[in-house]
Amino acid sequence: MKKTLKEKMLSKIKKMTKKHPMFKYPALILVILVVFVFDTLQYFSNNTKRYVSMISVLFIFALSSSFTYLDNQNLEMKQSIETSMQEESINEYDFQNQEDQMNKPDAIEDSELILEDDILKEYDNEDVSEIDNITTFTVDEILEENKETVANDLNQSESNHNELSDEDLVRHIVETTAFDKDDWKLLLINKQHPVPDDYEFSLGTIKGSMMCDERIVDELLAMLQAAKEDQVNLIICSPYRDYNRQEVLFERKVKAYMQKGYSYLEAYSYASQTVTVPGASEHQIGLAFDIISDEYASLNAGFGETIAGKWLAENCCEFGFILRYPLGKEYITSIEYEPWHFRYVGVEAATIIMKTGITLEEFVQQIEE
Ligand code: DAL
Ligand code: ZN
Repeated sequence: MKKTLKEKMLSKIKKMTKKHPMFKYPALILVILVVFVFDTLQYFSNNTKRYVSMISVLFIFALSSSFTYLDNQNLEMKQSIETSMQEESINEYDFQNQEDQMNKPDAIEDSELILEDDILKEYDNEDVSEIDNITTFTVDEILEENKETVANDLNQSESNHNELSDEDLVRHIVETTAFDKDDWKLLLINKQHPVPDDYEFSLGTIKGSMMCDERIVDELLAMLQAAKEDQVNLIICSPYRDYNRQEVLFERKVKAYMQKGYSYLEAYSYASQTVTVPGASEHQIGLAFDIISDEYASLNAGFGETIAGKWLAENCCEFGFILRYPLGKEYITSIEYEPWHFRYVGVEAATIIMKTGITLEEFVQQIEE
């Protein structure tokens, strides 16, 4: 009977081993290889149909969910983000320094969060152009525009001056003030407490298109004036924002994280640590401001170490404002440390909050008990 190729090869290997016993181990490996190759080929030739259908299934699967398809999706997303970023180069908040933007590292840790001004820097959107005409003004421009109001405030604040120690002051306020949890000044706004649908207030003008709740314009001006007298020139970079603007800022930040390679859920989660989700920002009720100074024009933790940052933290309560997102209280506020974000709550509540180092969340809880 005629020998098959496999048999011929095996017999050759056998002969070679007899002649050269020292090759017995390589020969053994060769035998295994020959048997494996020939038996596999034999298997496929006996199961051609099964083999072809398996290859077809693999091919169809590769076509429908291949890496190429995903890459295209990512590419499209990347291109649309890049285009929108390019279109959005005009910015009224042009005090942001370029270096911060360039030096941002790729991986996220606390210190690597994309800060609010990174987004503001690129903020310009035709859909919301009517609310995007906010230009920043120097403190002198604002005070000049409101000089009559400021003169009245100065007269009043002199008569309110008192010499009590912090402890005595807090005790005095607690003993003499009846706080009302429904007071508009104490309205708690956070992710768990969004702006109520029926919340109404009137906007007052600070200057140009810069607005806030009209009931706090005087206090804000008084604070700017007092800071200026201490050689601190404050700059308001973000006053009242409506829902649309908050949404744009939030989505911009989500996109920025996605551009860094994070999934939508991750990007959403990181974004919400620095910009509150639309509908849950204090800026929307006109009681919050982002404030920096002419000497430090970045919204980052470093502002807290500047003279202006320290001045604000120390004196804001005299004008009814609190540093809303303090360092070390992130587990309560769910927002990273923001030494630039100030919220109006009224002088009494602000004094208690700032002098005892609590948050608005804790204060509101205490008056509810
Ligand atoms: N940056 C603050 C948390 C806001 O967006 O309201
Ligand atoms: Zn803010």
